[in-house]
Formats: sequence, C-alpha cells, structure tokens
Amino acid sequence: MSELGERAAALDAADELAGSRKQFVIEDDVVYLDGNSLGALPAHVPGRVEDVVRRQWGELRIRSWEESGWWTAPERIGDRIAPLVGAAAGQIVVGDSTSVNVFKAVVAAARMAGEDRDEILVDATTFPTDGYIAESAARMTGRTLRPVTPADVPGVLSDRTAAVLLNHVDYRTGRLHDLPSLTAAVHAAGALAVWDLCHSAGALPVGLDEHGVDLAVGCTYKYLNGGPGSPAYLYVRHAHQDRFDSPLPGWNSHADPFGMRADFEPAPGALRGRVGTPDILSMLALEAALEVWDGVSIEAVRAKSLALTDFFLECVAAYVGEGRVESLTPPAHERRGSQVALRCPDAGDVMKRLIERGVVGDFRHPDVLRFGFTPLYVGFADVERAGRVLGEVLG
Ligand SMILES: Cc1ncc(COP(=O)(O)O)c(C=O)c1O
Repeated sequence: MSELGERAAALDAADELAGSRKQFVIEDDVVYLDGNSLGALPAHVPGRVEDVVRRQWGELRIRSWEESGWWTAPERIGDRIAPLVGAAAGQIVVGDSTSVNVFKAVVAAARMAGEDRDEILVDATTFPTDGYIAESAARMTGRTLRPVTPADVPGVLSDRTAAVLLNHVDYRTGRLHDLPSLTAAVHAAGALAVWDLCHSAGALPVGLDEHGVDLAVGCTYKYLNGGPGSPAYLYVRHAHQDRFDSPLPGWNSHADPFGMRADFEPAPGALRGRVGTPDILSMLALEAALEVWDGVSIEAVRAKSLALTDFFLECVAAYVGEGRVESLTPPAHERRGSQVALRCPDAGDVMKRLIERGVVGDFRHPDVLRFGFTPLYVGFADVERAGRVLGEVLG
C-alpha cells in the first residue's frame, strides 16, 4: 500500500463519523463525490416512504392530514433543520423549491426595507436561478438590481440598498463567503441580508441566529439527503416575522386556513412563509432522511469535511501531473466549503472517464471538475482512491 493509502486507512480508523456510512446506500466500489448535487439515499427511507404511501395515504387517506401529522409537516421539519443551521425553533418552514423561496425572501426583504431604498444587490457569481429571480423581484418591487461580487459588497452598500442576496458557499468554486462580517456590513448600511445556504447547510456551521441573518433559503437534496426535488426551506428571523409580507400569500399561510375567507390575514410566525398544499411524499421522505443527523454535531462534520478536502488536495498534488489541473477552491479553511473544484481544459471528458471508473463527481461548464465531500458517507480511503484514479485518467 502507498504511503497515502496507509494514511487514509489510519484516518478512517480514527474517524468518529465513519459509522454513519452504513446508514446510506452506496456500493463498496463507488466513491460518491456528488453529494453537493444530490445526496445519497439513507437506507431506511424507502421503507418509510412505503409506509407513507401504503398506510398513511392508502389506508388512512384524508385522516392523515391530522393523524399522520401531514398538515404541520412544513414547520415540524423546519424545526428539525433549524439546529443544523444555527436557528432556534419556530423560524423555518419547509416547502416549494429554493427558487420560489428566493423570490419570497427577496421581495419580502425589499418590502421590509422601505420604499426609499431603491437598490437590491445580488452576488454576481451566483447560481443562475438566484440572479434571475432577484432581477424579477427587483423589477416587481420597483428596485434596480446590482450584481456585485461578495467581496465588493461592503464598498457598494449605501442608504439606497434595500436587500442583499448572497451565497454562503459558491456552487462552482466551493468558496465560503464570510457570512458574519458581510451580514454585519449589510446591517450597518440599514439593509437586510438574505443568504442562500444550498451549499453550506449540512456541511458546516451556519449560525443564522448568532450572526443576525434576516432571511435565508436552502435546498434539502444536497448535504441534507432529502432526495431528488425534495422541498426547500425558508428562514424568517423571529424579529421580522410580524413584518414578513410574502409575495405569495396562499391559503396555507392564512391565519385561519379553513375559514375560507376572502380577505388575507397572515398566519403568525414563520408559517406565513407557506403557500399552498405541501408536497407530502417528498416532505416525509426528507423528514425520514434527516434522522441520519440524530446525535451528529455539525462541528464534527465540519472538522471532517476540512480534513477530507485537505487530504484530497494532497492526493491530487501527489498523483496528478504538474500543471494538469488548477484548484479553484481556496486553500484557507475559513474560505473553503465542502467541495473541491479543479479547472481542467478537458473536464467534461475527464469526468466521464472518472465515472466509468466508479469515481462520481460532476462537471460544470466550461472546464470545472467538482468533487463534493459529504462527511457522513465519504471516507479517507475514498478520497485517496479518487485522487489516484484522477491521476491515472489524466496521465
Ligand atoms: C446555490 C443554489 N441556489 C439555488 C439552486 C436551485 O434550487 P432549486 O432548483 O431548488 O430551485 C441551486 C441548485 O443547485 C443552488 O446550487
């Protein structure tokens, strides 16, 4: 065994999260490094979904809205996600897609900021959907949208800024942005900070309450393993809930949803972030999937994530020929999320060959190889193998 192989074995033996892997369905000969796109399936989820379909739907039918807790699932599952992102209970509702929640959050933030603030800032490097929706939200609320790279946000903030939409971790490079200091800068300018947590929730501590974040959104199909198209979530800080004016008021966000009233009266608390009938099958699959977090600390996950990405960069340096790839991922821990992005001119073809050899990452146009490290089911031997196979493919 190589020196790196021996190190990997020793690191796996000392890994306190190593036992989590058996909770997931992953073949022994697959190294799955795409959990930053679609998390792996927790082994107990199919049985739970079968119960939801056969018993709750098939036998209890309409009674399940009450008896199986369907009606309250959005806020109950929100409370289950809350500790993972550093939020106290009562501030998160689950439902809709991230895109839809970005819309609710940006419009609501602009409305809370007041009419005299006529600019919305958006991360210029953002995942495209956030940019498209921020542009529409700005147009709808009579604001101008200004794309700005996150590092430049403090210099651009002014008394014209209504809201700022930022990504905690960049989806392409894996760069971790400084949520505490950017949120503080946004607040010093009197604006509201909206964070997209898609690439950080479940991978590292977020500290929404601690850092005073106003509104946040995120998906659940990446590091939270909720399954394809599982519902997203919306965080509305306690202090803002009475003023949160959703652009999508639906009967599920009404104070008296079964009153069937013609006038809209928003429900108290984060519930006003709900819209229509929740997608129960996906939502309850997510609820089951979240059980893998029982007894797991997000700090331990973060420590292992950094060790995994450090070790991968070391393996790449050892196994891959000089100059063949360039890392886009910041070397400093405080600026790194849980993925490594390598620029490589023939990245599309390289990723195909990696996948053929059981190392599954993904390719982002035009030349980026992305490798996501999910500490609950990726180990150090996986990382060593991924680096070695990459070296062989590129050799
Ligand atoms: C940072 C970020 N925001 C938003 C989205 C889109 O989310 P959805 O498809 O749930 O609307 C993604 C999807 O990968 C993402 O990575």
